[in-house]
Amino acid sequence: MQMKIFDDYETLSEAVAREIIRQVKEKPESVLCLAAGDTPRLACKFLKKISRNESVDFSRCSFVGLDEWVGISPGNEGSCYYFLYTNLFEPLQIPRENVFVFDAMAHDIEGECIKMDTVIREKGGVDLMVVGVGMNGHIGFNEPGVASSLYSHVIDLDETTQTVGQKYFRESTKLKKGITLGLRHLLESRKTILMANGRKKAEIMRKTLEEEISTHIPSGIIRKHPNGWTLLDKEAASLLTINP
Ligand code: F6R
Repeated sequence: MQMKIFDDYETLSEAVAREIIRQVKEKPESVLCLAAGDTPRLACKFLKKISRNESVDFSRCSFVGLDEWVGISPGNEGSCYYFLYTNLFEPLQIPRENVFVFDAMAHDIEGECIKMDTVIREKGGVDLMVVGVGMNGHIGFNEPGVASSLYSHVIDLDETTQTVGQKYFRESTKLKKGITLGLRHLLESRKTILMANGRKKAEIMRKTLEEEISTHIPSGIIRKHPNGWTLLDKEAASLLTINP
């Protein structure tokens, strides 16, 4: 794993956007996966701006969704889909047929996992994954305790995730289960970037990078990725004592 520390959220976000663009220019039919949430919000803005200026064509890329709240519809502002649609798919004019996301309203929710694993396998794997980290060290909805051998799965959400997740919703929302790509997808992705910003992520990033790798802190798995990158701003890196 490699690590880079940026002065602030802005320079971190621009670097992530430029990395996504580099990937797409190098391989126009890339399979990309980007987390929803606050962390990648500014990177999406940079992505829109830079790709307009440089006429980057995303039309041959495929996007796979990282995760979704089970039972939450795509039209709900708090859903991962809503974030991806408004911040990524729509601004970059990604054709709908190139977008593969979990249907979190499906009756056969386990079937959604099989569908997603099949799509990823048939497309030859994910080229670039950009993920954030939860306050409890989750990646996607790979909650503490999850096995790193899993592909897509449905999971009971940790208390922390249920509470912190409220920030995305207008009103108090029951968030009990999530559907997510597995840590195995993250490990098998050709390149994975874990990004984190802000003082509030400093403690979990210290645990991620400095504590023994275990299922208690799923984000620690990034250290096992041969082409894993941890990109932080100074605030998120402020509690690190060693340089991994
Ligand atoms: C969202 C996702 C989550 C978030 C994480 C951090 O698709 O996969 O794992 O990346 O909870 O959320 P923010 O960025 O809002 O701090």
